[in-house]
Amino acid sequence: MATFTRIEDGESPSITIHPSHKIAKISDNIYGGFTEHMGRCIYGGIYDPGNPLSDENGFRKDVIEALKELRVPVVRYPGGNFVATYNWLDGVGPKEKRPKRPELAWIGVETNEFGTDEFMKWCEVVGAEPYLCLNMGTGTLSDALAWLEYCNSDRDTYYANLRRKNGREKPYNVKYWALGNECWGPWQVEQMTKEDYAKKAYQWAKALKLLDPSITLILCGETGYSSWDHHVLKECVRWDVHGLGDQNQTKSLIDMHSIHVYTADREHLPNATAPRSAERAIQMASALIDLARIENEVPATVPKQKICFDEWNVWDPVRAPGEQGAEERYTLSDALAVAVWLNAFVRQARDLGMANIAQSVNVISPLMTTRDGLVKQTIWWPLLLFSRYMRGHTLALHVRGPEYTGRTRPAWIRAAIETPYLDCSAALGDDGFVNLAVANLHEQNDYPVDLDGLRIAHGDRVAVFLVTGDHVGVANTADEQKVGIAESSWDGKGKFTFVKHSFTLLRWKPAE
Ligand code: AHR
Repeated sequence: MATFTRIEDGESPSITIHPSHKIAKISDNIYGGFTEHMGRCIYGGIYDPGNPLSDENGFRKDVIEALKELRVPVVRYPGGNFVATYNWLDGVGPKEKRPKRPELAWIGVETNEFGTDEFMKWCEVVGAEPYLCLNMGTGTLSDALAWLEYCNSDRDTYYANLRRKNGREKPYNVKYWALGNECWGPWQVEQMTKEDYAKKAYQWAKALKLLDPSITLILCGETGYSSWDHHVLKECVRWDVHGLGDQNQTKSLIDMHSIHVYTADREHLPNATAPRSAERAIQMASALIDLARIENEVPATVPKQKICFDEWNVWDPVRAPGEQGAEERYTLSDALAVAVWLNAFVRQARDLGMANIAQSVNVISPLMTTRDGLVKQTIWWPLLLFSRYMRGHTLALHVRGPEYTGRTRPAWIRAAIETPYLDCSAALGDDGFVNLAVANLHEQNDYPVDLDGLRIAHGDRVAVFLVTGDHVGVANTADEQKVGIAESSWDGKGKFTFVKHSFTLLRWKPAE
């Protein structure tokens, strides 16, 4: 959380921060990834057999190293829109017997060379938990139950035995399961009305939890502020499934609510401030969850359903069409937008159970593979700094600073939420360090800022990590990395200057 006071020209900005003002635990899972059978994400991205950069499984080692460095805790798979016609059985068993299928989301051919067991193995190598999305398009509840049994059952039953036959004795114990993807979308195979989806999701959830009560089930929401979100939450956030009236109940059928937002604009400031709409979306979805719980009389013993922001990023689908692999080329402006996205996640940590950048490799991604290497795009650098340091607990902040007052995208941001030039969040790490993340979105102005509450021990210094570039349009290429991290330190005295069009992370050990 951050509160904001707009100041006028000539006034001096300040940020007030205190290490004892902890307000919410930040879930590590906000640094989650997403790998879809789309473009070059799986084939040529994480899986590239025959390439000298790949291991004996065909997994790209440079990609694995990057995702380990990023400490990606959880990865969503296999879609996305792809999942709406996916039959998981096509992707298991001997590779030479796996069928090739027409793929309807991105109009391609799916070879099924990479499937469930390959994904599980890849997750183990990366050190991430798998998060599977169920096919609620052409898929049936029987298919979904069979997949859950294949992944999680240790009993002597058909699909658990099929897994054993395919070489994996122990269950994978996949915790996170999504009830479909963007089932509301007109582009979706078997698009549903909110009424049809809510009815189906409720029945699927009941059956899936009967098979494995330990799983975390994620409902398919829209943006977080639509009538779809309102309706499906109202119908599915229920607790007394068996009609026993047990007021001490601690379990609910639905554990999280998924929302998706992509932001982009061709002008810098509407682009960089657009993620403020996602922050408002989290607040609105949280209110709809409260409303559903109130209306359905969910007892307080049932933990509040968290938001799972399982697709987010900067993406202009006209500039980088999905059917052509959505290979966005990110600029410094986009890196600052990503810093605003991540600040929003830290500020709204109380309501956020997970977030998954869409996507992890090549498709609208910070990482781009070539045949012989890996390009780290501009947006990689703020993401890396956040994932490294912005964990632990969110700290309350008060920011006094100038505000951008021009056009926003979407336009409704202007009336709903402020758009400060200095967009900030803070975290107290479990190691006792304070971490302050500040994006200065202004293209011309450096801002000297008073940091009220910054106290360091005598002789200590504040670590400074700076991400910037010559102008907001610069991008990284295979030949030249124009945007990266510059490290330095500061003695903590006087004002700290946040330079124009930059992202800065300050990190210090507070004095006792
Ligand atoms: O991430 C790319 C696509 O965007 C996903 O497949 C879909 O869910 C969303 O519309």
